[in-house]
Amino acid sequence: MFSSLRQVAALFLVFAAVSTQALELHATRTSPTDLSLTGLLTGVPAGESRYVRWADLAQLPSTKLKLTGEFVPGEQEVTVVFLTELWKSLPLGAGADTLLATCTDGYASVYRATFIASHRPFLILAINGQGPEKWPPPGLKFNPGPYVISVSADVAPAVAQLLDAGHKKPWGVSDLRVARYADAFAGLSTGSRAALSAPAIAGREIWVHSCASCHAGPPATFGGTKSDRPFDVLAAHARYNPTYFKRYIRDPKGFAPSAKMEPHPHYSDAQLDALIAFLAPEPRS
Ligand code: HEC
Repeated sequence: MFSSLRQVAALFLVFAAVSTQALELHATRTSPTDLSLTGLLTGVPAGESRYVRWADLAQLPSTKLKLTGEFVPGEQEVTVVFLTELWKSLPLGAGADTLLATCTDGYASVYRATFIASHRPFLILAINGQGPEKWPPPGLKFNPGPYVISVSADVAPAVAQLLDAGHKKPWGVSDLRVARYADAFAGLSTGSRAALSAPAIAGREIWVHSCASCHAGPPATFGGTKSDRPFDVLAAHARYNPTYFKRYIRDPKGFAPSAKMEPHPHYSDAQLDALIAFLAPEPRS
């Protein structure tokens, strides 16, 4: 899924983005390739879902990108809608500044509006001209549908600087929630985390953009559900057994060959200490 910096990507602009029309929001799901939308949407009562059809998404300004190794080895052409276009097509409620993506397996990814502008994530509608009803493409064992969101350093050089670009490339995306970042992650800035040290604030960023893909946060905080470990258990490891905590994050399979957590061998000691400072904050007066 990772694309190398050196690869040459030819980008063909298919439609010049003149203006983005509003997406039609349907009250019912009629197909597994409908994308569910919830959250801060004008005219949609809190807690209700709306659905957008693949064909409607395909009407938004789209682009064809040539990516290497995105799904299978070698080059593949993907038809994409940049999240900037999707964002413009939604009836955003007051204060909306974040898209929260959830996948069929409980994996989650966070896209702040600032990130959408700077890192140019895109929704993949077709692989080599084939839509999700024809997925997986030949050579791929897993169906990445109904949707994939991805980023590429060839599209936005800032992607190369991300600590974990993989967490911005979820497969199986089925739900998007429009949110206010401060509300979606309120639990990370309250109680003992209301006044964090600078390292703890850096650790909180790593939590949101990496760990929250699989781990639930404190109550009322957005996070994935792939891991069943409560936030408090992770915080207790950070506080009482930091050596184990650090080693587990770098190499989970080193502890349990069956571990499902992905390794983070590239994390520096400073980054792991920042995570500990966030999960087990020192009381500040
Ligand atoms: C791809 C999903 C995924 C990501 C991303 C992830 N974890 Fe995990 N994590 C898990 C799962 C699943 C477990 C349960 C044990 C296992 O299968 O590895 C786990 C277990 C753990 C444990 C051990 C808990 C115990 O009870 O022994 C710690 C500590 C931990 N995760 C911290 C983190 C931190 C910090 C991050 C972010 C840097 C992170 N994880 C990112 C899925 C993930």
